[in-house]
Amino acid sequence: MRRREFLRTLTGVALPGAASAVRAPRGLKITDVRVVVTNPERSPMGNFVLVKIVTSEDGLYGWGDATCTGSELAVAKFIEEYMRPVLIGRDPMRLEDIWQTLFHHPYYRSGSVHMSALSGVDMALWDIKGKVAGLPVYELLGGRARTKLLTYTSVSGRDFREVEEGARRMIERGYKVLKVQVRAPGLESGYAVPPSERQRAATEKAHQAGVPPVETWEPDAYVRTIPKLFEHLRKTLGEEIELLHDVHERITPSQALWLARALEPFRPFFLEDPLRPEHADTFRLIRRQCSTPIAMGEIWTGQWDGLFLITEHLIDYVRHDLCHCGGITTGKKIATIAEPFGILTAWHGPSNISPIAQRANCHVSLSVPNFGIQECRTNWPDAAREVFSSAPTYSEGYVNIGDEPGLGIEIDEEAAAKYPYLRRYRPLIRRADDSAWAY
Ligand code: CO
Repeated sequence: MRRREFLRTLTGVALPGAASAVRAPRGLKITDVRVVVTNPERSPMGNFVLVKIVTSEDGLYGWGDATCTGSELAVAKFIEEYMRPVLIGRDPMRLEDIWQTLFHHPYYRSGSVHMSALSGVDMALWDIKGKVAGLPVYELLGGRARTKLLTYTSVSGRDFREVEEGARRMIERGYKVLKVQVRAPGLESGYAVPPSERQRAATEKAHQAGVPPVETWEPDAYVRTIPKLFEHLRKTLGEEIELLHDVHERITPSQALWLARALEPFRPFFLEDPLRPEHADTFRLIRRQCSTPIAMGEIWTGQWDGLFLITEHLIDYVRHDLCHCGGITTGKKIATIAEPFGILTAWHGPSNISPIAQRANCHVSLSVPNFGIQECRTNWPDAAREVFSSAPTYSEGYVNIGDEPGLGIEIDEEAAAKYPYLRRYRPLIRRADDSAWAY
């Protein structure tokens, strides 16, 4: 019923019956491509780059997410200056053709800026296709392979006690899987942990001055601390709760092997990003010597980047970010590549991608047979709810989306304009000797 009503408004023609084929309006063309950069939360990681693709059919348009934290305006400019002229006048229904065209057109291709831009366009085109069909995108991808998506949330603290308390609160809310992070003793900061007061003040000062904050990082103390955190949590929380941890590529290959082995007795759900993507062969070190499941992929920018780790059975979860790897089209392809290798999906779903991408993640996750888990932000502030009509909903350890056509999300552009781009930089990570280190 809803589909038919929608098509009627789209084509102006009443459909004769259920047997009639769904057809895109004749001569449908892309007439405009607009980019909206908005930061409703006014947070350092909160700039979202949204793409709107407008068509020749009144009221038919699609929204995508091209957010790439750290190069937001470069992506926005790339879409406006280099993709828009290629897109105008094209048939938006020819999604795969447009994807291939935009991928090859720059010749010097790939990388985070180009692929984030392409991801945003891809999502917007899926949104349009779903609206034309009157179906949610997951139906176009094969339909629901499951009714809801296992999810997890992050718990972090300055010490074990704080992590434990946070974990108890989330278990009470129904979470079955938790990502646990703790600040190592002697460090002022770390990845995804609360900084010290001193670090917080220094970071704020840098933001005010318009320069990147600096954080000092030493991996040894961190590597020693994490197995103790797991031991503490297993002792206090028991065996039932699943625990995972994100290294964020901040350690050396031998440290990663030691950590993966030290965590083995505590049966982690997975160990995330233990090694740098540039050192793909080092994943063999872990695989040969321990059974800790390994997840990798959020930093990859295409279907080729992680291929070696998949075909060599060196990881257990692919964690591509559908905002950076080529969108829904690439996500579906990667899942298909991984399926015969027994590798599951765990698409990157952090706070610094918008609810559009969070929904895109869910559409793919719902439809693939080899789904593992879906990271997903659900605690959006009021300002974000003003801009975005919906986000995945959380209930008892799972997330879900409704059956609205397309991606199922609307953007209030006036509200978005109230929260413009905020200039903020990621921190520079330095060792104690002031040498550069991985983020
Ligand atoms: Co990560």
